[in-house]
Order: sequence, then structure tokens, then C-alpha cells
Amino acid sequence: MEALKINSDRLWDSLMVMAKIGGTAKGGCCRLALTDLDKQGRELYIKWAEEAGCTVKVDAVGNIMCTRPGEDMSLPPVGTGSHLDTQPTGGKFDGVYGVLAGLEVVRTMNDQGIKTKHPIEISVWTNEEGSRFAPAMMGSGVVSGRFTLQEILDTKDVDGLRLGDELERIGFAGETPVTGRQFHAFFETHIEQGPYLEAEEKQVGVVTGGQGQRWYNAVLTGRESHAGTTPMHLRSDALIASSQLVLKVEEIAKAHPPGCGTVGFMQVMPNSRNTIPGEISMSIDLRHPIDEELTKMDEALKAAIKEIEATGPTIALDPFWYYEPIHFNEDCVNAVRQATVDLGYSHMDIIAGAGHDACYVSDFAPTSMIFTPCLDGISHNEIESTTQEECEGGCSVLLNAMLTMAEVV
Ligand code: GLV
Ligand code: MN
Ligand code: MN
Repeated sequence: MEALKINSDRLWDSLMVMAKIGGTAKGGCCRLALTDLDKQGRELYIKWAEEAGCTVKVDAVGNIMCTRPGEDMSLPPVGTGSHLDTQPTGGKFDGVYGVLAGLEVVRTMNDQGIKTKHPIEISVWTNEEGSRFAPAMMGSGVVSGRFTLQEILDTKDVDGLRLGDELERIGFAGETPVTGRQFHAFFETHIEQGPYLEAEEKQVGVVTGGQGQRWYNAVLTGRESHAGTTPMHLRSDALIASSQLVLKVEEIAKAHPPGCGTVGFMQVMPNSRNTIPGEISMSIDLRHPIDEELTKMDEALKAAIKEIEATGPTIALDPFWYYEPIHFNEDCVNAVRQATVDLGYSHMDIIAGAGHDACYVSDFAPTSMIFTPCLDGISHNEIESTTQEECEGGCSVLLNAMLTMAEVV
């Protein structure tokens, strides 16, 4: 069969309409997981999926599954999907593109009257971002068995709101069990969120795996005291200690290229300009594509903490999330590469730097990903940008890779 193309204008229009839900003044999107805006985004998406003839189910962790029937409904579906939640200062494409690309695949199949042997299923995974509720990739993590449903429902945000209660509140605590999901194959389309495709002038990234991650919470305790009366040599300033730790995280990442290290969240207590900070809560995010290197970064972090503690403050480190580097399924990777070649796009193999739901889906199903370029490699930023042509390319590759696996009848 000749390689098919999706409807580029329709995909782009859908992206722009979805981006209005939580749209920010700087052209980005703020649609945090399980907020009223997340509810609105989910409802719009379900309306579109039903209009495209899909049946819709919601599971107990809020994952949405939209199915286009196949000729043999006893076969596992060929799946795609991503997430609709965003960072607080997120863009219009991170996650959303992968969901709406799935919808566009179904719409194109409808236009062309294509029937497949396997059903087609589009997933919206709950809380991929891990911003409001940590860690990330919760919905796919529960389905893969990495997390228990109960521990995820009991997770709280920074205001103490429980994820399970928020899920109920927005009407997405569904009835479908989280166990027993299967895919014949699963593909996730995503903007690259990094600079490599643009630098190499490639239209498509054939994603062969994802780097490993370690997430920590650290609480540093010093002693609150008066900013004007406490001599410098008698202070135990938790903010100074945490600043030293931030610099150590940077040093550790730079010592283990191409590893990354980030402190993105910090709370200063009591956060008063004339009281020396007594307690700091902060996040630490370490990543590396090679597990042994990630282990070395973890060891270096623990050594750095001992060093800083020797100067006075106590530091409680909670290493609450880890996943090892992921290697995607060879058949799925080949299906993506072949679709790219058939469509005539330039391409390169690439490793995902971000976390993606596909990383957890690959625990239980043959999986791979498709990347497309984004302007200056910038993501997790309101200015995140890509073009209609770039979105069209990744989505057409998705369509053809899915058709290969789903078998056209
Ligand atoms: C998710 O966006 C992550 O990689 O942190
Ligand atoms: Mn994403
Ligand atoms: Mn993201």
C-alpha cells in the first residue's frame, strides 16, 4: 500500500482549539493535571473522539481509552496516545500533539474508508507531567504495574489535595479496571523537546529508547533566627545549604555527560525577609541514558549531601522515584523508520530525554516513539513552538506505522 498522509489543516486546527483551554498570555498553556481546565480538555477530546466513531472508556486512575473497532475485536488493539496535562508554564504541543495525532489518524482512516484487523485505541494518560502531583507518568505507571492504584490515588499536591479526590471531583474516576490492558503495538508521537533534530536538519526522530531518571525530595533543616542580630558565624542558614546543594547537582550532571541535573522546585520556610531560613524543601531530578552512570550520579549526590551536612544543617533525602533507561521494541522502531522512509522524510535515531508514557507502556507491550522538531529545542516553556508541516510529518508517520501493525483488510 502507498504511504498515506493525514489531514494537516485539521490536525493543526484541533491543536489550536485545544490550546485555548488554559491558554496563557504568552501563547502557552497551563492545564495542570486534574484541574477544572484538565476536565474541559478531556471533555472536548472525548466529544471529538465520539464524533469520529470511537467508543470511550475511563479507568480507575482517569486514563481515557477511545477505540475504533477492528475486524477482529478479540485481538489486542494497536495503540497510540500521550497526555493532555501541561506544565504550569507549558506549551501547546507537549503531550497534546500525541493525543490529537492519534485522533487525526482515526479521522484519516474514516475519510479513506480504511478497515483494520486489529482495533485502534487512543489513550489519554493521567498526569504525565508530574508537576502538580509527583512523580510523572502516573496513569501509564499504574497500568504497567510500576505504581499501585492506591498509592497514586493517595498522592497529594502542594496544597494537600488528594489525587483520588480531585479525580472524583472532575468526574474522571472511571470504572474500567487498570489491570489487563494489552496492545499489539503502541506508538507515541511527541515533539522532541530538545535541539538535536533541528541541529541535524531532520524531519523525524526514530526514538530507540528513553534515558533513566531519579527523582528526590530533600528537606534541609537549619535554624531560624533574626536577620539583624545573628552574627554570620553563628547562623545555620538552610537556604545557604540548599544553594550549595543546587550547585552540586549542576556539578554532578556536568561530570557525567550527557547527564542532566535540575532543581526546579523549592519552598523556603518561613519565607520572611528578616528571618534566616530554617527549612527548605526542594526537588532534585537526575537523568542519564546509561544506568551505571545514573547510579554514579546518585552516589555523588549522596556524598555531596554528607559534605554539606558536615557544615551544620541536616538533610533528609527521599529518593522516591527511579526508572532505568528504556529500550524500545525493535519491530516497532523498524515500523516507524520504514514509514518515515516510505513518506520520504529525513530522519535520525534518537533517545528521549524527557519521560514519556510510552516508556511505561513498553513494560507490557511492544512500543516505540516518533519525534518531530521544535523551535530552538525549547519545551516546558510557553514559547514552545513547532510548525504545521512538522506536526503533519510525525502524524503521517504514526498513521503508516499503525496501519502496518494493525493490518489493513
Ligand atoms: C516530563 O515531562 C518529564 O520528562 O519530566
Ligand atoms: Mn510530554
Ligand atoms: Mn512535559
